[in-house]
Amino acid sequence: MTQQRISPVLIVHGGAWAIPDDMVEAHQRGVRAAMAAGWKLLADGENALAAVEAAVVAMEDDETFDAGRGSFLTSDGRVQLDALMMDGKTLRAGGIGCVEHIRNPIRLAHKVLTESPHVYLVAEGAERFATEHGIALCDNNELIIPREVERLRCFKAAGKPDSTFAGASAEVSPATSHDTVGAVALDASGNLAAATSTGGTLNKTPGRVGDSSLIGCGCYADNMKAAVSCTGWGEPIMKLVLGKWACDRVQEGDAPQVVAQQAIIYLKNRLNGHGGMILLDKKGRIGAFHSTPRMVWGFKNAKREHVRVEDSVTKHPR
Ligand code: GLY
Repeated sequence: MTQQRISPVLIVHGGAWAIPDDMVEAHQRGVRAAMAAGWKLLADGENALAAVEAAVVAMEDDETFDAGRGSFLTSDGRVQLDALMMDGKTLRAGGIGCVEHIRNPIRLAHKVLTESPHVYLVAEGAERFATEHGIALCDNNELIIPREVERLRCFKAAGKPDSTFAGASAEVSPATSHDTVGAVALDASGNLAAATSTGGTLNKTPGRVGDSSLIGCGCYADNMKAAVSCTGWGEPIMKLVLGKWACDRVQEGDAPQVVAQQAIIYLKNRLNGHGGMILLDKKGRIGAFHSTPRMVWGFKNAKREHVRVEDSVTKHPR
C-alpha cells in the first residue's frame, strides 16, 4: 500500500512586540531567510523536525532577533538561552534552559529529543550533553552584541522593574521586545513539529526560564491536535499553559485561526498578558494572531507564500 503524500506547510515567526519602523525590513528579511531554509528541507522530503530546526537556526544566527547571538541580557549582563523542539508523531520533546555557551540552542534541543532519555536539560548539564554529542561550546561574550549592552544600560538607568517580575507592567515598547523565534511545520508524511528559541526577557534574573522552552507553554506539537509556537511575555503564557490550551481547542474542532485569536484574547483578558502565536493542524490549516503592536511571521505551502510584519488589529472583547 503506498503512503499518501501530504502537501507540506511551514509557518515561522520572529517575535511580537512594538517593532520600530527602522527594524521592520530586518525582521522581514530574517523571517524570509528562515522560511527559505525550512522550506528547502520540506520540499526535499525531509521531516518536519529538520525543517523547524533549520528555520529557527537561521533566526538564531541573525542578530535581529532575541535568540542566539544578539539576545537580551540578564540583569548581570549575560546571554542565557532557552529552546524547545517537539515531535507531533511521537510526542518526543527536547528542552534546553539557561545555557550560556551554545550558539544554536535549537540544535541542542533537537539532540535532546533524539538522543536523550530525558526531555529537559539545563545549564552546565545541558552544555556537557552538548559537548558529548558533538555541539561545540562558545564563550558567552561571543553571544553579546553592543546593541544589547546599551539596551540593558538604558533599561537600568531608567529604573524600570525587572520585566519578569510578577506584577510588573505589561508594557510593550521597543525597550521590551519579544523577539523570541519559532516555527511549526507539517511534512509530506503528515507529521507535525514545533520549535521555539529565545534569549528571554530583558534584565531577567539569572536562572529565569520563560515559556518558550516549556512543553505546552511556548511550544507544543501533537499530530492528534496541532503544532504551536508562542512569543510574548513568558510568565502569563506559562501560567495559562497557552500552547497546549490552543492545541486542545483545535482537537475539539475549532479552526486554527479562530483558536489563535481566542488564545491571545484569553491571555489578555485573564492575565493582562501580551504576545503572539502561530498554529498549524494536520490538515494544513493555519492560524496566527497577536496582541502586540506588531508581529513578524511568514507562511508557505506549495501554492502560496507570504512574509509580513503585521500591525495589530486585535480587539479584546470581554
Ligand atoms: N517568550 C519569551 C520569554 O518570556 O522568555
